[in-house]
Amino acid sequence: MPTSYLAKHPDAQGRIAYTPEENAIWRDLVARQWPHVQRLAARPYLDGLALSQMPQDKVPQCPDISVRLRDLAGWRVEPVPALISFGRFFAMLADRCFPAASFIRSRRDFDYIEEPDIFHEIFGHTPLLTDPRFAAFSQAIGAAGMRAAKEDYAWLIRLYWFSIEFGLTVEAGKIKVLGSGLASSPTELLWSVGEGNGQPERRPFEVIDILRTPYRIDIHQPVYFVLDRLDDLFDAAHRDLLADVAKARSLGLHSPKFPPKQKSA
Ligand SMILES: [Fe+2]
Repeated sequence: MPTSYLAKHPDAQGRIAYTPEENAIWRDLVARQWPHVQRLAARPYLDGLALSQMPQDKVPQCPDISVRLRDLAGWRVEPVPALISFGRFFAMLADRCFPAASFIRSRRDFDYIEEPDIFHEIFGHTPLLTDPRFAAFSQAIGAAGMRAAKEDYAWLIRLYWFSIEFGLTVEAGKIKVLGSGLASSPTELLWSVGEGNGQPERRPFEVIDILRTPYRIDIHQPVYFVLDRLDDLFDAAHRDLLADVAKARSLGLHSPKFPPKQKSA
């Protein structure tokens, strides 16, 4: 996938020099998203957002976020180029290190950006990583990925996609946003809970069903999986995920619920 963004390189202390405009973009992204997540995000995300103590007026620095994550759940976050291989991604998760794209979107992409930027990585992901249970689940996916054959990567990553990135849950009978891809997206957050133009399909959280469900990264998801009990997610960390992948493979992928991606000229 071509990208118009360049990775920013940290100094010897792991800190990145963001421009005043980049800090202003962070401030404006947080200001817009804050009321949405307070209203629609699940309690574990909101508790983690408070615990992470991220700045609201400037782009956070990974070493500062890591201090909080290390104390709370034994994790750290490190800057990486925008796109890394599945192999490196799984290895970092297994090492309790969250890989964070370092650039921040421009105002041109303020509403939607296909590739993960640091707003998605820090505002979306790090709140859940303050919770030892989500941290353990993320580490378990990384560990399974390290044991997986390369051809199984794309199968395994769907479990991560439909839970950590785009999972929903239920609190007091209301659908709530759990995943980082939703917590960091002003438009998909609304769409996923049914406040958009139309209704996505919402299915119960079931590991084999998830592994068989294809997705596209560049559209709002047509289907989400809803965790009735968060413990179902943490129980999944103790499953033999590679046996689950083998079973899902034998059953085959579900038919996509989205149109094929148009090839650009
Ligand atoms: Fe992400």
